[in-house]
Amino acid sequence: MVRPRIPEICEVETETIGVFSRVAGWTGFGAAWRVRGIMGEDFMPGEIVVDVGTGPGTIPLHLQRMFPLARFHGLDLGLPMLAEAQQHSARMHIPLPCICGDGTALPFQNESVDMIISFFCLHHINDPGLFLAEVDRVLREDGKLLILDFKRDIPSLFCRAMNLLWKIGFLFSPGRHGLKESIDSSWTRAEVRAALEERNLSRFMVHETRTELLVTGGLKKFHGD
Ligand SMILES: C[S@@+](CC[C@H](N)C(=O)[O-])C[C@H]1O[C@@H](n2cnc3c(N)ncnc32)[C@H](O)[C@@H]1O
Repeated sequence: MVRPRIPEICEVETETIGVFSRVAGWTGFGAAWRVRGIMGEDFMPGEIVVDVGTGPGTIPLHLQRMFPLARFHGLDLGLPMLAEAQQHSARMHIPLPCICGDGTALPFQNESVDMIISFFCLHHINDPGLFLAEVDRVLREDGKLLILDFKRDIPSLFCRAMNLLWKIGFLFSPGRHGLKESIDSSWTRAEVRAALEERNLSRFMVHETRTELLVTGGLKKFHGD
């Protein structure tokens, strides 16, 4: 039995933003390497890539350095987070155009974006179908998608281990310390699959690892999966 979802608030708590941004400054490179392993062949010169829920922007900034010819943009609900993204961008000497916007009402015209990426944002969204319908609307016909997030039905041992790691990373910082709230707010593969089916979004697929969910579309690695 999967425990019921407990929604988390949309934005990262104000008192946690500073430390979250600092931690993301250390982890962003590793996360970008991981993304490169999943979809490195999919970044094409000149293509517009939007990172939804970019937070402090460290993942797209590192990706921009790895794939200089793609054009990365960071989108987030929270202006304080976007201010952090601008600071990382200045420190790394890599421009990252930032947009304040909502993943469930994307501020782009139909079929105007080549690729959407989104990391650890889906669990903040209470209607995944609405988000995915928006992604479907703004992506070009051959557009690409990678969403990565926790899943709620993670084995409890992993949940406890990740919670502990997070608590160590955030030791002595103000604000929230655990990761459990985010895991409790996340979606399962079955729930995301049902949301896709309900809206006939057949170009997207849901995959899972032991700890995470991936929603993909048009990626070379996942063709025919
Ligand atoms: C846990 S942070 C992840 C940040 C970044 N992707 C990373 O992995 O380092 C989630 C981010 O999603 C943003 N967010 C939450 N709901 C959103 C929505 N509906 N549209 C856009 N951004 C959203 C939050 O403001 C926050 O910055």
